[in-house]
Parts: sequence; structure tokens; C-alpha cells
Amino acid sequence: MYTQALNDLPTPHNLEDAEKMANFQTRIDSEDRIEANDWMPEAYRRTLVRQISQHAHSEIIGQLPEGAWITRAPSLRRKAALLAKVQDECGHGLYLYAAAETLNASREALMDQLMEGKAKYSSIFNYPTMTWADIGAIGWLVDGAAIMNQIPLCRCSYGPYARAMIRVCKEESFHQRQGFEIMMTLAKGSARQKAMAQDALNRWWWPSLMMFGPPDTDSQHSDQSTRWKIKRFSNDELRQKFVDATVPQAQFLGLTLPDPDLRQDEVTGNWMYGEIDWEEFKQVIAGNGPCNQDRLASRRKAHEEGAWVREAAAAYAARQVSRHAA
Ligand code: 3HC
Repeated sequence: MYTQALNDLPTPHNLEDAEKMANFQTRIDSEDRIEANDWMPEAYRRTLVRQISQHAHSEIIGQLPEGAWITRAPSLRRKAALLAKVQDECGHGLYLYAAAETLNASREALMDQLMEGKAKYSSIFNYPTMTWADIGAIGWLVDGAAIMNQIPLCRCSYGPYARAMIRVCKEESFHQRQGFEIMMTLAKGSARQKAMAQDALNRWWWPSLMMFGPPDTDSQHSDQSTRWKIKRFSNDELRQKFVDATVPQAQFLGLTLPDPDLRQDEVTGNWMYGEIDWEEFKQVIAGNGPCNQDRLASRRKAHEEGAWVREAAAAYAARQVSRHAA
């Protein structure tokens, strides 16, 4: 359903011939950067529009769970940091919609698909933020997972996407640190605060592992995205890197990961984790998660309430054009 909606977008390239495809793959294999005006297979363009648009939607929707806590932050310092983070996420969405536009995918068309429920965004943002500790868990785990996934994207073969990621990753590291500091404050605080941090970890751990996508055996895009060096690591490889990096952090915090099967492999040193509930994952991305409807309703409401801003900006731009034309 989602990919079909993207397929309806106009396709600039007509017939592709074998020689062009071979030359393109040679460029990819030699680590060339593909730029907007370069020839590219239509399928390469489409899968980039698919991934970049979902990434952009994730940034915009991702503001909602955290935005709910800006007015409830426990101190001015926490409020200022959360405000800055939510504002950054909006900017990340802007960079990514701009990267999608270089592939002839209009921001308006992508936004319409999101609001019509025809577009995907990261499953993680369909979970509720119940306490202030959730804001810490999101920064620590969700932004931590996002960094693990986005650092390799800085080496993506498509230039505009890779360059957008460089700026995003610099800001994500602040996001992760402010989240970890919230968790550290709570975990080293009173028993009630530590219990709040543990409760948030219990609820955000498994959905954070799902952020990396389905297991490699079920990943329908990975092989081609890897051949085209859009993806540098598989879903399971990045998930494993994230688990290996995060387990010692949880131990430092004195918190327990909600996985009774977690154990360290004596040979590889990797932390082996238990079964992920892929049925839950499928339900959430099918629109049946705890907050899917709320998130879309909030996005639609914000879009409607922001119409006057878009109209004013368009009127101003039109007047500037007519002034210069006169
Ligand atoms: N949530 C929703 N859909 C997901 C998903 C998730 N966590 N993981 C996978 N999917 C979807 C894919 O989009 C694909 O569906 P489609 O064919 O309709 O597009 C299907 O499940 C099969 O998955 P694949 O593994 O085959 O898909 P990909 O090769 O695209 O890999 C991905 C999935 C790893 C998420 C990849 O798309 C990616 O790296 N995307 C860019 C990073 C991104 O979007 N991160 C999301 C979070 S952004 C964020 O956290 C912001 C931060 O500031 C908080």
C-alpha cells in the first residue's frame, strides 16, 4: 500500500538500458557519490524516496511524544534542552524532505500521503510517553538507535541524503546525551525516581530494537539497498551493535534490561538478546499501535492550524516575485 502510493509519484526517467545500469553500478562499487542530476535507475530513485520520506515523516511525528512533555519538564534547564531537541527534529524533517525533493518527490505530495495514512514512519513513535522518565528513555534509546542507524547513512551513495545525515548526526549526539543524563539523574535519585526510570526502560527497550527493522530474513529491501550502498549494514547488524553498546550503559545506570534471555557470548562478546515480538511490530506498522491514530490526528490538526502560515508565506513570496518583476 505504502510503496504503491510512492510509485504513483511522477517518474522522470523513461527506459533504462543495460549499459547505463552497468555504468551506474560501477560508479556505486567505486564509492562514487550519486547526485540529483546524475542518471540513476528508476528503482534506485524510488527506494530512496521511500526511505527518505519515511525518515522525514519519522522526524516530524517523532516530535509529538516528546512535545507533550515540554510544558511538564521538571526544570527550566530540562525544558530548554527538550525544546531544543524537538526543534532539531523539525529541522531534520526539513533536511530530509528537501533531500526527497531532489528526487522529484514534492513535500506536499509526501505530506499528503502521511496525513492520509498512506505513508510509513518509524514504529517507535506510536508508543505513549507516560512519565518524564520516558523522555530520558527516548533520548537514550530511541536517539541512540537512530544514531546507530544514521551514522552509516552519512556514507550513503546518494549525496543529498548522506550530507543531510552529517548535520543530523551531530545534533542526535546531543539528543542521546541529554536523554542519558535524565536517566542517570533518575537512576541515581530516590527509589521512586529509579523505579520510574526502570519502568520507562521496560516499556521502551523492545520497541527500540524494532526500530532497526524486521530481521534480515524478512527485510525485503536490504539486499538491493546494500548493493546500491544506500545501506551499509543489515538491520540485524545494526541492532546487534546497538545492543552491545547499550547493555553496559544500562549496567552503569544500575537498571535491568527487560530481557531474561540476555547473555554475553563468551567468544564474540556480543550480547545475545531474546525473541523480539515481531507480531507486535507488524501490528504497529499496520496502524494498530497504541498511539497511531492519535499521532495522525495531531499531525492533521497541526497542518490545518498551520495553513495560514503557509498561505502568508506564499503570498509574501508571490509579492516579492512581482516586485522584482516590475
Ligand atoms: N517502522 C516502520 N516501518 C518499518 C520499520 C520501522 N521501525 N522498519 C522497517 N519498516 C518497513 C520498511 O519501511 C519496509 O516497508 P515499505 O516497503 O513499505 O517501505 C518494510 O518495513 C520492510 O523493511 P526493510 O528492512 O526491507 O526496509 P528498509 O531496507 O527500508 O530498512 C530501515 C528499514 C532500517 C528503517 C531503513 O528504512 C532506514 O534505515 N531508514 C532511515 C532511518 C530511519 O528512518 N529511522 C527512523 C527513525 S528516525 C528517528 O528516530 C529520529 C530521531 O531523531 C529520533
